[in-house]
Amino acid sequence: MQHTPVVGRPVRIAIIGAGNRGQSYASWVHANPDRARIVAVADPRPFQRGVIAAGDPEVRHFEDWRELVAEPARVADMVIVSTQDRQHVEPAVACAERGYAILMEKPLAPTEEESRRIVAAIESAGVLFGVCHVMRYMPYTDLVKSVVDSGVLGDIINVQHLEPVGWWHMAHSYVRGPWRREDLATPMLLAKSSHDLDWIRYVTGKRIAAVASFGSRHHFRHENKPALAADRCLDCPLQETCPYAAQKLYLPVVREEGAVWPVTVITDDATEEGVTEALRTGPYGVCVYAADNTVVDNQVVALQFEDGTAGTFTMTAFSEQEHRKTQLFGSHGMLDGDGERVRVTDFRTGESTVHETGPTGAANAGGDHGGGDGGVMSAFVAAVAAGDPDLIRSGPRESLDSHLAVFAAERSRHAGTVEAVPRY
Ligand SMILES: NC(=O)c1ccc[n+]([C@@H]2O[C@H](COP(=O)([O-])OP(=O)(O)OC[C@H]3O[C@@H](n4cnc5c(N)ncnc54)[C@H](O)[C@@H]3O)[C@@H](O)[C@H]2O)c1
Repeated sequence: MQHTPVVGRPVRIAIIGAGNRGQSYASWVHANPDRARIVAVADPRPFQRGVIAAGDPEVRHFEDWRELVAEPARVADMVIVSTQDRQHVEPAVACAERGYAILMEKPLAPTEEESRRIVAAIESAGVLFGVCHVMRYMPYTDLVKSVVDSGVLGDIINVQHLEPVGWWHMAHSYVRGPWRREDLATPMLLAKSSHDLDWIRYVTGKRIAAVASFGSRHHFRHENKPALAADRCLDCPLQETCPYAAQKLYLPVVREEGAVWPVTVITDDATEEGVTEALRTGPYGVCVYAADNTVVDNQVVALQFEDGTAGTFTMTAFSEQEHRKTQLFGSHGMLDGDGERVRVTDFRTGESTVHETGPTGAANAGGDHGGGDGGVMSAFVAAVAAGDPDLIRSGPRESLDSHLAVFAAERSRHAGTVEAVPRY
């Protein structure tokens, strides 16, 4: 399939869903005006549309993605679909049918069937498509992959990968926030850790063939609520000693840094008064033991790769919020990585060498996901500009394949089975 390159002007972008992620990608565009320009934004919330438009009167505003897609002529060269998890399928399929190149937030969709539907629509339309598996685009990932590809490790026989979500990040997004309930969003493994199963596959080059998973919502439960605790943190006598007290999470951030993530997620009024009001009335001020959350706070997945080798993945809420940690155990060497540096031990010489990426930003939305947010934008815009799908690292088939491993792991967790990962 030939894709028409964009010649002599910046790539025109329409953003569908102007929330936290849409705004992150918009900030990359604003910093790279020679490469891309925002021409349209669709979101029912005017304040969020205004953040994306950043005062540019030529940006077209739509209150719903359907209005944007219904325009008789395409309004942009590419769209970014950054609506919530359960609002991906319809805009993705409609934009594909209209011939838009699509950069799509993960996860593809809450179910295997819907995820396959998106990929089928993309392939039928033949449009450029990338999933925001931002970890594939981090400089650190290039470093890990360069070590693997150099052959110094020999055959990789085992993988051990840890995702330390962080106690406050868990409370923010997965106990109080939009991803707290599977029926409102998706299971934790899909919402948070689809990145990780995808990343393991990407850096090792090994397809995941079978999975077994255990996990539970162990801590953030009503029965763990201390007897004296109030339903809201602002009213709680235990706020000094509770690690999850909402005022300790948000008020220092707004005082010291102002309108930054995660404060911007909880209120449009990023002042101390605005945050206090949000904690008094909104979901982010609810006691973590009194919320209506259903997603797991700890999970493991045992992985069998197609060549018979094995790995493990662990997600835990009960950690600092920091980069993932990975160990790759090979026949001739091992790699020990912490998200910014890797130590490579060569068994032939017994020597260890440390390689560093240098600072790339924190492993969260406030820190560009270790350079991954900017990385995926840069790669996808370059692909649209050149009409070249090879510049996209997270295309439809490989992204669907790693989603299929996640769906299989969830089946395993619920049924207590070992599950084969179906092929595309
Ligand atoms: N790649 C990553 O690392 C990463 C990180 C966080 C979140 N995500 C994913 O990104 C997606 C968006 O997350 P978010 O935190 O930005 O969510 P968000 O809730 O902040 O933003 C979603 C936006 O969609 C808008 N919206 C709702 N209905 C709409 C409609 N009909 N037309 C247009 N817009 C509509 C909402 O008003 C909201 O502003 C989610 O699927 C999430 O899982 C990905």
